[in-house]
Amino acid sequence: MLIPVLLSGGVGSRLWPVSREAHPKQFLPLASEASMLQDTLARTQGLDAAAPVVVCNEEHRFMVAEQLREMAVNPDALILEPEGRNTAPAVALAALRALEADAESVLLVLPADHVITDPDAFVAAVAKALPQAQAGRLMTFGVVPTQPETGYGYIKCGEALADDLFDLEQFVEKPDAETAAAYLASGDYLWNSGMFLLNASTYMKELDAQAPAMAEQCRAAMATAVRDMDFVRPDAAAFRACPSDSIDYAVMEKTALGGVVSLDCGWSDVGAWSALWDVGARDDSGNVSKGDVVLEDSTNSYFRSESRLVAAAGVSDLVVVETADAVLVADRDRVQDVKKIVNRLKREE
Ligand code: GDD
Ligand code: MG
Repeated sequence: MLIPVLLSGGVGSRLWPVSREAHPKQFLPLASEASMLQDTLARTQGLDAAAPVVVCNEEHRFMVAEQLREMAVNPDALILEPEGRNTAPAVALAALRALEADAESVLLVLPADHVITDPDAFVAAVAKALPQAQAGRLMTFGVVPTQPETGYGYIKCGEALADDLFDLEQFVEKPDAETAAAYLASGDYLWNSGMFLLNASTYMKELDAQAPAMAEQCRAAMATAVRDMDFVRPDAAAFRACPSDSIDYAVMEKTALGGVVSLDCGWSDVGAWSALWDVGARDDSGNVSKGDVVLEDSTNSYFRSESRLVAAAGVSDLVVVETADAVLVADRDRVQDVKKIVNRLKREE
């Protein structure tokens, strides 16, 4: 059984002021008219897959349930975390849930905040990787890198297994700038897209080996989980006691069972506002505008208006995001620093 698992627990602070703790980016229509969670779900509908599982924060349960209902998607479960423990435990909860029903379950782990412009190519890559995952490989989806990005994982492909399929020789999560530049220059590395195709039982075995305390707490949390219609609540005390780490550091950097399928599907991680400029429809002057925007002699910028008219003259390479209670103006190259602003605002609260 192939089960789409949507990870939807992040906060998306670099997309402030639109993305907020109560309304993180994955629930918002940022890249299209549907929310990013809905776009992610829609991409799985081309697959021969069972009902999806969403792993999210307790606080977001009604928003998630409503967004699924809008798409007439009946989930297998919405697993509600009392607090995020990063992605390795989130995947473990989904794996344990899947193993209750079927020991052969394969999880298609999907962050709910990516843009893919060619969903058919994505579906084809999943289909290609599936036999490898069924055979026990922990499959990553590798994307050809275009810049020395330090926010991504890097994958080195080993021996070719079949067309577009490779052994995973090395996985390095978020290297420093110098290392990322060297990886890019070498041409030997792909970006880890952050999606995974995993045999649920292999994943739990690897977690037992690489992060035993985490595996134990997740098992304890799911052993006494409470089901309330679609909502599944792992035991809060057990889950809070779980160490926090990402699947990338906790498992993928360490495993000897990794595999890679190469992916060319117009993938983009919408981590910061510049990504929406990258993937957006640009006008003749290179601007991407959303909402009520009037421009005069402005170029290569991203404008978003949510509640008032936004007008600009003679500016270039900017990000301008207007909401009812906050306005962001940033150089397009400095959008990573929005996180710093959000952290400062939190400290000043
Ligand atoms: N349920 C749940 N609980 N989801 C979570 C949690 C959590 O505690 N933490 C993060 N997520 C979700 C986020 O909402 C996002 O959809 C996804 O898991 C990935 O988490 P990020 O925090 O966005 O990871 P990242 O972007 O730093 O790095 C990952 O993605 C990159 C590509 O976008 C890694 O896999 C990198 O290797 C990869 O290159
Ligand atoms: Mg991310």
